Amino acid sequence: MPEQSTEIKKKRIFSAIQPTGVFTLGNYIGAIRSWDTLQKEFECIYAIADLHAITVMQEPSALRQNTMRAFALMLACGMDPEKSITFVQSRNPHHAELSWVLSCSTMFGELNRMTQFKDKSAKHSDNINAGLFTYPVLMAADILAYNADLVPIGADQKQHLELARNIAIRFNQRYGDTFTVPDGYFPKQGARLMSLQDPTKKMSKSDENANACVYILDDKDTILRKFRRAVTDSDAEVVFREGKDGINNLMTIYGAVTGKTMEEIEAEFAGKGYGDFKTAVGEAVADHLEPVRTEYARLIADKAYLTQCIDTGSEQAYRITRKTLSKVFRKVGFIDRK
Ligand code: TRP
Repeated sequence: MPEQSTEIKKKRIFSAIQPTGVFTLGNYIGAIRSWDTLQKEFECIYAIADLHAITVMQEPSALRQNTMRAFALMLACGMDPEKSITFVQSRNPHHAELSWVLSCSTMFGELNRMTQFKDKSAKHSDNINAGLFTYPVLMAADILAYNADLVPIGADQKQHLELARNIAIRFNQRYGDTFTVPDGYFPKQGARLMSLQDPTKKMSKSDENANACVYILDDKDTILRKFRRAVTDSDAEVVFREGKDGINNLMTIYGAVTGKTMEEIEAEFAGKGYGDFKTAVGEAVADHLEPVRTEYARLIADKAYLTQCIDTGSEQAYRITRKTLSKVFRKVGFIDRK
């Protein structure tokens, strides 16, 4: 970790990513590509949430493999183990320990209101396990164990963060000041990307149509194909205008990856057809994502390095949360540990 003794203490960010998730072009443009700046401004702690992943059925060997992949992808996207703490959740036992204690300061009714629990139980009706229900408590433990100031999350996790705040406040009231009450961190909204197949809908990884969404590890051919098939309109002018949702979306994407303004894009493609434009967007996106793909390929082939990063990061994480755990155990009245 960088020296911080004489500097003003940086705010601490904690976030975690499930090993089942895949990053989309939208995630990349909206958040991931600014991880560089994030790591300069904040003390970042990022985990792969494998404990959360088993709340739904996982094939064990696939989970292990996906955890390594997610970790490699996190590094390929610029999380730097020299600047930040990067680790795997299950490798720090304090998350699960704290989760138990916090579950005794969480009300059944609070958990029962979580919309993600309702959605997931509907989706996995054959496996409504208790972990699925207490999932938000574990997430609160993740965050509070590090006394994180800020938590970058998507809209789907807002309710869970709100609960984490309430648990922290309640615990602090009951036992005296213990936890930092975390805030959400919402970087200024990047471009909002729409589906390539239905540009009135948000680009989403849960879209059934595989051509609707671009993933950051898609190869160049796949990216080109998806853009070539993008739904547009029947006139043939590359201009940003109300009603031209498909073209507006492609122009937004092109602008986001090239830095060009809408006027510059209009000028560049004046008199050219949609075919040329779509190919140009595909090429630009593929070029933009190329460094991540190359770095990912390099990392995933270097298991020894990944394992070493996970070991070191998990050890660093453990050392931070040990302090929180001793404090918590003392406060709730457990017998002192050596
Ligand atoms: N539940 C989060 C998700 O699915 C992942 C996560 C686990 C998380 N623990 C966290 C996010 C702590 C932020 C902070 O996206």
